[in-house]
Amino acid sequence: MQSHLSNEISAILANKASADESMGIKSKFEKDEQRANRFSKQLDDLFFDFSKSHIDQELVDTYLKYADEISLVAARKDFLAGEKINNTEERSVLHTLLRDSSNQGIATKEPSVLQEAKLAQQGFAEQFARIEQALDQRSKPIKDIIHVGIGGSSLGTQLLFEALQDANEHRQIHFIGNIDAHQLMNVFAKCDVQTTLVIGVSKTFTTAETLKNLDSICQWFKDNGVTDPLSNFFGVTANPEQASHYGLPDENVVTFPEWVGGRYSVWSSVSLSAALVLGKDRFDEFLIGAASMDKHFYQADLKDNVCFQAAILDHYYANYMDVGSKAIFAYDFRFRSLVDYLQQLETESNGKDRTRDGEPCEQKTSMVVWGGVGTDVQHSVFQMLHQGTSLIPSEFILVKTPDHDLTEHHNELLANGIAQTAALLEGQDLSTVEAIHGDEGLSDAAKKAKVFSGDRPSLTILLERLTPTALGALLAFYEHRVFFGGVLTNINSFDQMGVELGKRLAKQVRPLIDNKRATGTEFDPSTELLLSKLI
Ligand code: F6P
Repeated sequence: MQSHLSNEISAILANKASADESMGIKSKFEKDEQRANRFSKQLDDLFFDFSKSHIDQELVDTYLKYADEISLVAARKDFLAGEKINNTEERSVLHTLLRDSSNQGIATKEPSVLQEAKLAQQGFAEQFARIEQALDQRSKPIKDIIHVGIGGSSLGTQLLFEALQDANEHRQIHFIGNIDAHQLMNVFAKCDVQTTLVIGVSKTFTTAETLKNLDSICQWFKDNGVTDPLSNFFGVTANPEQASHYGLPDENVVTFPEWVGGRYSVWSSVSLSAALVLGKDRFDEFLIGAASMDKHFYQADLKDNVCFQAAILDHYYANYMDVGSKAIFAYDFRFRSLVDYLQQLETESNGKDRTRDGEPCEQKTSMVVWGGVGTDVQHSVFQMLHQGTSLIPSEFILVKTPDHDLTEHHNELLANGIAQTAALLEGQDLSTVEAIHGDEGLSDAAKKAKVFSGDRPSLTILLERLTPTALGALLAFYEHRVFFGGVLTNINSFDQMGVELGKRLAKQVRPLIDNKRATGTEFDPSTELLLSKLI
């Protein structure tokens, strides 16, 4: 087995890329009438259309060969079998067990892990029931939950809550992540300590922002006459000792296993706050949806596997078509936090320059992930998407049936999303401009400015409806695509060493700001100058 891209495969892909650059995507439709069907797939309530990308049989076959060379299928099995695929931290990666503790029949290396997963699921169910009962018995019902956590300890839960909440939920969740207290002030202005519950979420329970925010919220409770604030605080963590050390009563600490990574933790008790609002049943359906995508990820042949198809396109674009970023546009307001979530998932997992062996990675890893919500984005960044000089593959997520009855709004929304994918593909040539604007007396420059090159790739994902199961399946699709991306580039997708240096330096900068010192530090002249401006 080899871990790198062979010269032979690399040469095939490089040749293919130059052909693709000159031939584009439209010509692929001309050559193959069945292309739309051939490169799309219905999986339960999700429909994936890859046909408006550069995917074709040659691309799939070449990557199948590459997958073979690097034993990608074995890597997938190692992941699900609980091998310590997070090699730099010597950890297994088993969050999929939280969606289906039978693990799709895959033998785990350590059978005790399956037991641990079952216990984690049961433990969460029991803790959830106990907490709900306690909340029901309060004389003043809880109206607001402040969810304190950052990165993986909040982005998934926020997405889950926003995607599935309905307009009349009996409780609101306010998410506090950043150390910036402007966010806290906003939340304090909206909440009443008598009817507010605080849930501090941190895998390590050592994250500076989270602990400081919890301290300030605790003080806010005290300032408002609550003598025992921590009785209103719950902690969710994989490090219960640290939560106890913080001062939380043991019965208020909910745990999850160490083998659940932060950005893969939305499936665990990390989502306690969302489950307390949406109900545990909806949360369980979310897990079921993810488990069905897990099954596809594991059981479908690579050639039919949507997670693999998406991953090879990412790899191809980044490595052979000089693509530096990809954009995700959800045409649904309820997905307004999706990009933040996927950004962390992909960039924190695959934004790495070292291989699993610590050698410089010679392939391009994670692209920049950005995007927004349609149709808002059409009135801002879409100019660049259609006519900019960089090729930016984009993804459109549309929901067929809305949960409101303003059909005209929804049809307009869908029409816009679909039209964008068609416009990116088709473009508009000068003769079409002449035909449309011929009698308007436009200058040559104005006419040329209306030309769109087209042949800009997109992937469309249609959801029947935004249900918990569809959401679970969608997020699991993205997770597995990231996994395959990591294997294709031979990196460890499950550590995040790149976030540490900044945290360490912040600890050195802080006393300089506190003590108003900007000279004679160990920092560079630019940093010293900036410090001098701040103090
Ligand atoms: O800063 C990176 C990170 O470790 C993320 O990976 C993680 O999701 C986040 O911080 C929060 O960490 P914790 O859950 O331990 O507070």
